[in-house]
Amino acid sequence: VDPDALRTTLLDWYDRHRRTLPWRASPGEHSDPYAVWLSEIMLQQTTVAAVKGYFERFLKRWPTVGDLAAADRDDVLNAWAGLGYYARARNLHRCAAVVADDHDGHFPSAVPDLKALPGVGDYTSAAIAAIAFDTPATVVDGNVERVITRLFALETPLPDAKPDIRIRTGRIAPDTAARRPGDFAQAMMDLGATVCTPRAPKCLLCPWRDACRAHAMGEEERFPLKKPK
Ligand code: ADE
Repeated sequence: VDPDALRTTLLDWYDRHRRTLPWRASPGEHSDPYAVWLSEIMLQQTTVAAVKGYFERFLKRWPTVGDLAAADRDDVLNAWAGLGYYARARNLHRCAAVVADDHDGHFPSAVPDLKALPGVGDYTSAAIAAIAFDTPATVVDGNVERVITRLFALETPLPDAKPDIRIRTGRIAPDTAARRPGDFAQAMMDLGATVCTPRAPKCLLCPWRDACRAHAMGEEERFPLKKPK
């Protein structure tokens, strides 16, 4: 299937069905990189529903990365309580200090510079570059893995399939800022979270239904395959 057609179909779907989330800018507007970073760190291993309230409280209490950097570490850890994985909260505070001190309070936009920040790895650096700066970057999380392995009926189990998933996602993803890399990344996440779900996917509502190999086989739930632990 033509990657241009897949990308366009998905962005059209996103324009009609995008979820309103507190860290998302309105259509056509730009997200604050600080808000994007904060939300992506919180969303690691935690659901959207659980994150919403925390995200809003953090942003109200520490509206800029400089405010968060200047905060008392224990206050940040206490505000984090309930989200779990406390290493994330410690890295959060360290990262805020690095952005405030070494980057003049502005998040860098290039993936390698983002990846050098505490607690920011492959996924988060790509997500911030795409969503906050509309930089073409390949953003792959668990939702994207499910969508892509189904679309192409990939028989290689995870985690071995990861390099192939990355290449296939990169072929469909926008290659210029004008083609909306941030919206594309979030459209993939929304598709995986709301339509291409692990169980009982809602294929009738899927913009990629006609292209999807797993759907043609009637075996959506078999993908992604996972290597026995
Ligand atoms: N999960 C992680 N990042 C997300 C985002 N930006 N939108 C929706 N779900 C997400």
